[in-house]
Amino acid sequence: TTTATRELLLSRIRDVHDHPEPGIVFKDITPLLADPAAFAALTGTFAEMCARLGATKIVGLEARGFILAAPVAVSAGVGFIPVRKAGKLPGATLRQAYELEYGTAEIEVHAEDLAPGDRVLVIDDVLATGGTAEASLELIRRAGAEVVGVAVLMELGFLQGRARLEPALGGAPLEAV
Ligand code: PRP
Repeated sequence: TTTATRELLLSRIRDVHDHPEPGIVFKDITPLLADPAAFAALTGTFAEMCARLGATKIVGLEARGFILAAPVAVSAGVGFIPVRKAGKLPGATLRQAYELEYGTAEIEVHAEDLAPGDRVLVIDDVLATGGTAEASLELIRRAGAEVVGVAVLMELGFLQGRARLEPALGGAPLEAV
């Protein structure tokens, strides 16, 4: 990504203070989605990463990850696989629990969507604690597929998601715009 592109993208993310709770600064990507030049620049950056890593499938993480990942899959000519919050997918699934700050959450993927030989790029908007991304990598690994990278728009460095993700990445790159 060029500096100009990065500046354009970051300028289209809105900080919303005290959402969804007091003390949290929410990263709102809707201004970026509403700007076709910025949205195209972002999906182009992700598609370039997809090609560079030789990914054959793209996993998007519910819900904002879906919005970013789907156009990348179309432009890269690879399949889009949704990783959803538990209970939403109708078919046979693999399910993975992970720790939140308070309590646990679970995500799922259709078991038939990933198989040995698949080279998977995971796309999401924000890497915060890294819990969601880490659980998605575990699902992909359990399905027998290979993770070739994780791409996010933004990494909240102070939450140390990168360190949490490191073991599950197994040497694959984590790239933020
Ligand atoms: C947000 C964000 C990432 C995740 C990052 O999703 O879009 O998926 O949290 O947090 P983590 O690194 O601490 O796991 P959220 O669960 O708010 O879901 P949404 O996109 O459906 O609103």
